[in-house]
Order: sequence, then C-alpha cells, then structure tokens
Amino acid sequence: MAMDVFKITGPVKLDGTITVSNSKNAALPIMAATILAGGKNILHGLPNLSDIEVMCRLLDSIGCKTEVANDTTVIDTTSVDNPFGDYEIVRKMRAGICILGPLLARCGKAQVSMPGGCAIGYRPVDIHIRGLQEMGAKIELKNGYIVAHSNGGLKGANIFLGGPFGSSVLATANVLSAAVLAKGKTVIEYAACEPEVTDLANCLVKMGAKITGIGSPQLTIEGVKELKPIEYSIIPDRIEAGTFLTAAVATRGRLKLKNCRLDHLMAAVDKLRSMRIAVEETADGCEIACNGHIEATDITTLPYPGFPTDLQAQFMACLCLAKGNSVITEKIFPDRFMHVAELSRMAANLRKEGPHVIVSGVDKLIAAPVMASDLRASAALVVAALAAHGETIVNRVYHIDRGYEKIEEKLNAVGANIQRFSV
Ligand code: UD1
Repeated sequence: MAMDVFKITGPVKLDGTITVSNSKNAALPIMAATILAGGKNILHGLPNLSDIEVMCRLLDSIGCKTEVANDTTVIDTTSVDNPFGDYEIVRKMRAGICILGPLLARCGKAQVSMPGGCAIGYRPVDIHIRGLQEMGAKIELKNGYIVAHSNGGLKGANIFLGGPFGSSVLATANVLSAAVLAKGKTVIEYAACEPEVTDLANCLVKMGAKITGIGSPQLTIEGVKELKPIEYSIIPDRIEAGTFLTAAVATRGRLKLKNCRLDHLMAAVDKLRSMRIAVEETADGCEIACNGHIEATDITTLPYPGFPTDLQAQFMACLCLAKGNSVITEKIFPDRFMHVAELSRMAANLRKEGPHVIVSGVDKLIAAPVMASDLRASAALVVAALAAHGETIVNRVYHIDRGYEKIEEKLNAVGANIQRFSV
C-alpha cells in the first residue's frame, strides 16, 4: 500500500483566511441515527474524509444506500435488512459502534464488532452496553462481537451514564439514539454535553423525537413510535478550527477562520488569552493574531465545556515555543501522549510524569523525520513542523486524512510550505 508523507519546510508565518469544514464527529453519529427513520435522509456539508467514507460503507453493508454528490449525502434507510457491523469495517473506525443503538431500536437486534485497538490507549465500550441494558436489551459478547437483542422492544429507563473519566460522547449518542424509539420515558444522567451530542439531539428532534435538556448533562426523552427522514446541515468542526488557531500561534501569524463557532471553543479561547494571544469573534468565525510572544500556561483536559482532549496535542506543540514552563494534564485519555516522543525529536523540551507533561519552552524547534500515530497527535506534528527550522518529514499521513479535509491545501493557501508524496 502506498503511504503518503508530508514534507513541511519551515519556519513560516501564516497569514490569510481559512474556511473550516463541518464536524466529522458530529456527522458520524448523525449518519448512524438516520437508520432510525426509514426513507431518504439528506445531509448537507459532510466533510470529505476517509472516516465518513467508512461510515457510508458500513451503512451500505447493513442494507442502506448512500450516495454522495457535491456536498450533499443522501442516505436511503428504507431497507435495513442486515443489522451486522462487520469487524472488517468497524476495526477501521471506532465510531462504527454508533450504529449499535440505532440498529437495536430499528431492528430489535444487532451484532456489531467490538471496535479495534487504538493508539491513544485502551477504550472500553462498557458504558454503551450498560446504558442499552438499562433499557431492557439483552447483550452478550461473542467472538469479538457485541450481540444485542431488544427483548420485545426497548423500554424507557433512568440511566446513569457516568464512567471513570466522566461522561462518554459516543455512549451518550448510542443510548440517546436508542431511547428516542423506546417505549416510555428515558432520563439520561451524566450525558456528555459536547456540541456534537447537541447536534445529534437537534437532528433527532427534527426527525420527530421528543428530547428536553439538550446541551445539559440530563437528557429526558419521551419515546415516539416512529421518526421521519430529515434534511440536515452539520455544525462546523471545532477541533479543526482549534487546530488552525494553534497553527497561527506556533507560526506567530494571523488567521481569519470562516465557518467557525467560537462559542464551541470557549475553553481553548480562554487558554489562548492566557497565552497572551488575541482572539476576536467575527460574523461567521474569528480572527487570531500572535505578535511573537507566547506565554506559558497550564492545561487540563476535561469533558465539555472543559478543555477538549482532541486539542491537547496541538496546544502542546504551541507551548513548546512559549516563554516559561507549562503543565499539561490529560484527564480523559491518560495515555494520549504519543506526540511527546515525536515533538522531542524536534528539539522540544518535554518531560512526561504519568498523566502530566511538563513543557519547558524553547526558542526554536528543529525539523526532523517524525511519525504520525493518531489523528490529533499527527495534527500537532504538522503545527510544530510549520514553526520548525528545516524540512520535517511527517510519515503515515493517513492518520491526518481521517480527520482533516485537504489540510495541506488549506495551510498552503495561507503561507505554509507542505508537499505530499507517496512512498
Ligand atoms: C469521542 C470522540 C473523540 C474524543 C472523545 C472525548 C468521536 C468519533 N470521537 O470519542 O475524538 O477524543 O470523544 O472527547 O466523536 N469510556 C469508558 N467506557 C466506555 C466509553 C468510554 O470507560 O464505554 C472512557 C474512555 O476510555 C475515556 C472516556 O470514557 O477515558 C471518554 O471517552 P468517550 O467520550 O467515550 O470517547 P469517544 O466517544 O469514544
């Protein structure tokens, strides 16, 4: 298999306007939720990414028909005759687990592969299973598959969805998607409040679901008999936007972002301001400018509205160039530090102590060959490489392609020097 690499020549100073794509992580559970409403569902503005293609393949494999034309994706869910999430597809993308709740609600049964391992650490699915069991589902694990039956139809329940690291985004998506067609009332306590969950809830309401408390940790759902297909536009990708903000900081540049919701990025903006970076809201996005000085700051990742784990690596890349010492603490995925070794290869001064990394700011980063390990860690390497002196080679770019649409084109248009090669 040909593998792409990036050659990134730095340092550059970014200057210009970037249009942010729509959210992959909002799109995936919404695509899965179309299973609940038989008919033609029309989704606008899905990003053109390999994870979205994988979800289309998964939906096709269970009997749906997906069709992509320009920025419109039609998911025809008239037939869902094979409620089976094949290992060969689900192992490619953890979000494949999102079809479990909708399949169980629609077909009364489902068999979905346990998601594969993942470079950011062990990621169990016990909260998903527990939530569905509370609604009466019978669930067994067989040969690597989650085998679920609705046992005469799912029933509303009071469900506590907290886990050892707080709320779970995809478990909330799964349980919420199943509860909308369950008999009676469901209350989910400790629901994830991420904007992607809110987008799913809003989409379900448009399908005819009855949900209150949207955006809060307590969701109340009155089950309905059936849902109707929808036409829906997905929210902008706050993590892609946040990544570009860090690229502006690391390169001491200025950027205007379009299609960006700053209200979804409050924790990141708060940190940028304590780093003495100017961020201003505009009509459809924001502007960021870095005058050359980056102040050190401490960051702890938390469930929304706290600082997102999906921006931890990119902020670390910036703080490598800050004046002073920063402490970064990972409270969602304590092993999510694959980028530490790679950033160190670029002359960053980092020390890892359990779930903490102490970042001592350096004057400059120096280019090196580095390895992309997971989606966000790879984005951090790109951010660091834009600021680093010399030619950085980033290997295994396919990790970046899972979550960033045309990242090199977008960055090159504002002054980056990134070339893609197949090796
Ligand atoms: C989603 C995002 C991912 C983001 C993460 C946290 C998608 C496709 N992915 O992943 O980019 O980093 O939210 O914001 O939207 N946990 C359990 N048991 C479970 C489920 C989760 O213990 O059954 C733990 C996880 O190991 C982790 C924490 O809960 O420590 C939060 O994970 P979760 O919110 O579930 O992440 P995902 O929904 O998989």
